Amino acid sequence: MAQLQHVEQYKTRLAKQFSRAAKQYDSLAGVQRDIAADAIAFLPFKCSTLLDIGCGTGRITRQLAERSDNIIAMDLALGMLQHASEKDEDKAVYWLQSDAEHLALATGTVDTVFSSMALQWCASPKQVMAEISRVLNVKGHAVLAIMSDGSFSELEQVWAQLDNQRHINRFHRSEDWQQAAQDSGLDVKLSKQCYQTWHPNLRTLLASIKGIGANVLKKQYTGRCLEASPVLSRGTLAQLETLYLALHGENHQLPLSYQITFLHCVK
Ligand SMILES: C[S@@+](CC[C@H](N)C(=O)[O-])C[C@H]1O[C@@H](n2cnc3c(N)ncnc32)[C@H](O)[C@@H]1O
Repeated sequence: MAQLQHVEQYKTRLAKQFSRAAKQYDSLAGVQRDIAADAIAFLPFKCSTLLDIGCGTGRITRQLAERSDNIIAMDLALGMLQHASEKDEDKAVYWLQSDAEHLALATGTVDTVFSSMALQWCASPKQVMAEISRVLNVKGHAVLAIMSDGSFSELEQVWAQLDNQRHINRFHRSEDWQQAAQDSGLDVKLSKQCYQTWHPNLRTLLASIKGIGANVLKKQYTGRCLEASPVLSRGTLAQLETLYLALHGENHQLPLSYQITFLHCVK
């Protein structure tokens, strides 16, 4: 019961952070755009009803709308959906606030599920994949791009030199997602790719995470603390930056890695 409450508080916090980031999200989320473009390449060309889970500002949803007769754009964060639907032009997109772990959709009602850079925020791959499998109709496809273990490893290594607290989310392994998909009755093909962004200093590197709302620590749903990652003092920032440059810097630039799992599932 207490654990359930923590998960709920964590999700409320997550939705708040993403809602706050909605306005500037598109201008900051470059790597997310590249990852989604690579995921779209796995989709069948034409779909009848497509569900985009964790649609954010809807910029990817609009691209998907070109190949689908009906489209449901779903997100946990109301602020994201409000921002997205303001820009809704003539294409009929159905905007829905819902949680990937408890999809507010009837069984067997969509033929394609798409999700890019959202599912890593969920607590349980098993629950997510069971829900995706449930809403898919027979022969339906799911194409999912998920941040996985090893993401932000540079930042994690640098923090480990300073203290022994967890500052970076622990991401599930690709194989956990694959297993969860198989357990929910889906045929699944797995591929992985690493993407890197480069930053002139630590401040911009951290801003690339915080600015899009992705700075809520998952560990917070197991404990009392529900704050987003704390503000760092100048001294800590300087220490981190020196270490980062020494360990990972190239030409005075700092890399940040995103390890992405692509799952292509068929029911
Ligand atoms: C990094 S953004 C990705 C947005 C978009 N898919 C893209 O690629 O630009 C992650 C989105 O996932 C949403 N999200 C996080 N956890 C979710 C959940 N459990 N259910 C639905 N959406 C969720 C967030 O609110 C946020 O809008």
